[in-house]
Amino acid sequence: MPDEALDLLAIRPDGVYLDCTAGLGGHTALIAQRLESGTVIANDRDAVSLELARANTQQWKDRICFHLGTFGSLREAVEQAGFDKVDGLLADTGVSRYQLTSAERGFSFMADGPLDMRMDQTRGRTAADLVNHTDEKTLADLIFQFGEERRARRIARAIVRARPLRSTLHLADVVERAVPRTGRLHPATKTFMALRMAVNDEPGELAKLLDVGPDLIRSGGRMVVISFMSNDDRQVKEKFRSLAREGRATLLTKHPLEPSPEEIEQNPASRSAKLRAVELI
Ligand SMILES: C[S@@+](CC[C@H](N)C(=O)[O-])C[C@H]1O[C@@H](n2cnc3c(N)ncnc32)[C@H](O)[C@@H]1O
Repeated sequence: MPDEALDLLAIRPDGVYLDCTAGLGGHTALIAQRLESGTVIANDRDAVSLELARANTQQWKDRICFHLGTFGSLREAVEQAGFDKVDGLLADTGVSRYQLTSAERGFSFMADGPLDMRMDQTRGRTAADLVNHTDEKTLADLIFQFGEERRARRIARAIVRARPLRSTLHLADVVERAVPRTGRLHPATKTFMALRMAVNDEPGELAKLLDVGPDLIRSGGRMVVISFMSNDDRQVKEKFRSLAREGRATLLTKHPLEPSPEEIEQNPASRSAKLRAVELI
């Protein structure tokens, strides 16, 4: 929903914008194109993505400041660029298509790769650490809670029996043998999603974004968040409603915006996207 996100940010040519999730620079470029004397701060925790974003946005390099870091370091990103507040903040959460389709990053059950799944490959536990060293109950709870997977207990039992899990396709095969395919989704879809969320502490990161984000936006500035999981959208909705109740923000989207059927056809991964926005008072 790039058009909707950009419209809701209401870009001013002299404004300062924070793209918290630059990915390969798609939104960053769209913002930069609309600027004259303004700046867009392009942040991502994935160093490889950020370098690709830099290459993809060369044309507007004078308008972009790059920052490598998690949502916990967004204040630092703004300060390093020489500002204390921004006119708009955009977060397009989750993983990028580039991350998902690069076998060596280990996010995908469609291609063989290491069980990594870290967005920042310099730190933290990998998916292999989790599946090979977490006790069965904790693993089941994690798959149930983060992946919203009803068959989590059976999957966790099968994973523990198959240890050591060595690669993405090995894990996908173990899950597929443990639980039959029910609908269109590959049986390992939710397990991979849950592991990715745990490896990258995505719920904790979203909480940090919602905590620090509003404080970084000047009065009249806007915050736009796109999320892909119903739990995440609920957190965003609750935070935005509480800002509105406290008189700190006006809701710009009473109901979340969702992609059109045409967008879903072009980009099936966008099917569960929900976009919400507020304007700070
Ligand atoms: C859906 S993609 C964004 C795509 C981007 N909007 C574009 O136009 O190319 C999400 C990006 O957010 C990054 N990301 C996810 N969680 C993050 C976090 N907590 N801190 C910083 N970056 C994060 C990922 O590394 C990924 O590159």
